[in-house]
Amino acid sequence: MVNKSGALSVLNIQKMKESGEKIAMVTAYDFPTAQMADSAGLDMILVGDSVGTVVQGRSTTLGVKLDETIYHAEMVARAVKRALVVVDIPFPYCQLGAEEAKRACARVLKETEATSVKIEGGASRAETIRAVVDAGIPVLGHCGLAPQSVKALGGYRVQRDVDRLLADCQAVEDAGAFAVVLECVQRDHAEEVSRKLRIPTIGIGAGVGCDGQVLVFHDLFNYANKDPNETPKHARVYCDLHQLIDQGFREYVADVKSGSFPGDAESF
Ligand code: KIV
Repeated sequence: MVNKSGALSVLNIQKMKESGEKIAMVTAYDFPTAQMADSAGLDMILVGDSVGTVVQGRSTTLGVKLDETIYHAEMVARAVKRALVVVDIPFPYCQLGAEEAKRACARVLKETEATSVKIEGGASRAETIRAVVDAGIPVLGHCGLAPQSVKALGGYRVQRDVDRLLADCQAVEDAGAFAVVLECVQRDHAEEVSRKLRIPTIGIGAGVGCDGQVLVFHDLFNYANKDPNETPKHARVYCDLHQLIDQGFREYVADVKSGSFPGDAESF
């Protein structure tokens, strides 16, 4: 089932959980990456605020601006024909209360062709999620490790409190979220949450028991790290772009220096 524009809807994502079909999701921040991810069959594409760390070179996601998010979301949504596009609302719009969050989320939907937004946080964000959902905006929740709260959490570490995870995820579901990301939690905890929730869970560092998986593009293709061994434990590198691009750059420099580029074939 597809909606009017031909893209997957939140109803399709729910049906995937019900039928046992795993949901495949990745981040993208630009037109060509989004186009490739979409045509390769990704079900959901996230314009993550990870753009702050993997594209902008920041140490956390906290400095990402809403205007920057919208800039990237416009490019991604323009490229995508089938996948459901989700846009991460950057810090601190959803921490400032329901009105501020609604304004930010409405801007995203009005100024881009994206379908939905992602809001980080569990029970403490439930009221805000409910208000955004009531405004007609589909919300993807995000529990477990919440990078926007990295300073309060004392670093990026596995979250091991299963009672809190369950309560957070239940609150997010009750608030009307259509699915929830589980980041860096024990696999048995993620499995239990996935069994208990009606909505799909999308794991990152949460084991195979989730209803779907999400990875950051730069981790999937080793784009950000010089050494593939620096890839986060939860990620699998499918192709070493760093190595390929590094090699290509070096050959180009050598060819320019030696005068072997451009050759006859590249000249008019
Ligand atoms: O910003 C992001 O890329 C994310 C994923 C890690 C889920 O939130």
